[in-house]
Amino acid sequence: MQIKTVGVLGCGLMGSGIAQVAAQAGYKTIVREVEQGLLDRGFGRIQKFLAGGVEKGKVTPDERDKALANLTGTTSVDDLKGCDLVIEAIIENLDEKARAYEAVERVVGSHAILVSNTSSLCITELAARTKRPDRFGGLHFFNPVPIMKLVEVVRALTTTDETYQALFGFAQSLGKEPITAPDKPGFIVNRLLVPYLLDAIRSYEHGLGTLEDIDKGMQLGCGYPMGPFTLLDFVGLDTTYYIANIMFEEYREAVYAPPPLLKRMVLAGRLGRKSGQGFYKY
Ligand code: CAA
Repeated sequence: MQIKTVGVLGCGLMGSGIAQVAAQAGYKTIVREVEQGLLDRGFGRIQKFLAGGVEKGKVTPDERDKALANLTGTTSVDDLKGCDLVIEAIIENLDEKARAYEAVERVVGSHAILVSNTSSLCITELAARTKRPDRFGGLHFFNPVPIMKLVEVVRALTTTDETYQALFGFAQSLGKEPITAPDKPGFIVNRLLVPYLLDAIRSYEHGLGTLEDIDKGMQLGCGYPMGPFTLLDFVGLDTTYYIANIMFEEYREAVYAPPPLLKRMVLAGRLGRKSGQGFYKY
């Protein structure tokens, strides 16, 4: 199938990044947020990123202008009616997502594909909450979306070959490197990343070293772009805690169990960069 117009539900960190890369790849892109204020914030983030790209010589002014011309914001789901693909990047809550899919399915054509950018919920369960489980899948992007090359393409039990191929091709058309991931908690990347991050916290609790030394060790010793605590603050401690709990619930293996310190930091509101304090202060 031909994808020409892309809808994005949610203009937060992930939604705005996804909308940006779709618009930069030449798709007419319509982003829907629940409130104008949130939409304005998301568009501000996109403009800032594109301006930064121009400054760094990564994006030409013409590419920036074309990307912005391809982008439309709305607070009405009805405006998504011409979309061939709708990518949902809203709150990680099954019922909220199901409500959003129901609203989208009332307006889009029967050919349209629906996907979720969820990092933790079951794609087959989400697909089952729509009227098109065959035209549903997962496209999991990574933060910061315009920079990170990877997209995990996740098939629900019900996703057809045609839908899967359309999604894989779409990810490639964005200039991304797609990989096929199973519909199991954590997919491929978080299944390996989250136990590593949790182990870093556990090791810190047990006195392995200072935050700075552990971060420096992994950064300079292994060539990781960020040490585990810088990355935890970047991803968000609440997000990590949420994903870890879902993984632990499904796999029942100790490596996915959130350490006590992580829970307490979340309870204290130390969520990382977004709250001004996590393992480090910002
Ligand atoms: N527009 C275009 N390109 C830009 C740009 C912009 N506004 N800003 C930066 N770039 C480019 C830079 O030019 C640079 O490109 P080259 O490598 O070709 O030189 C590249 O992006 C890196 O930028 P910087 O050098 O400015 O920044 P950095 O080296 O400090 O890297 C980072 C920043 C990319 C975030 C890096 O620290 C990193 O990769 N961190 C790890 C991020 C990560 O692991 N993300 C995944 C989190 S897990 C997740 O998202 C999934 C989940 O479910 C929780």
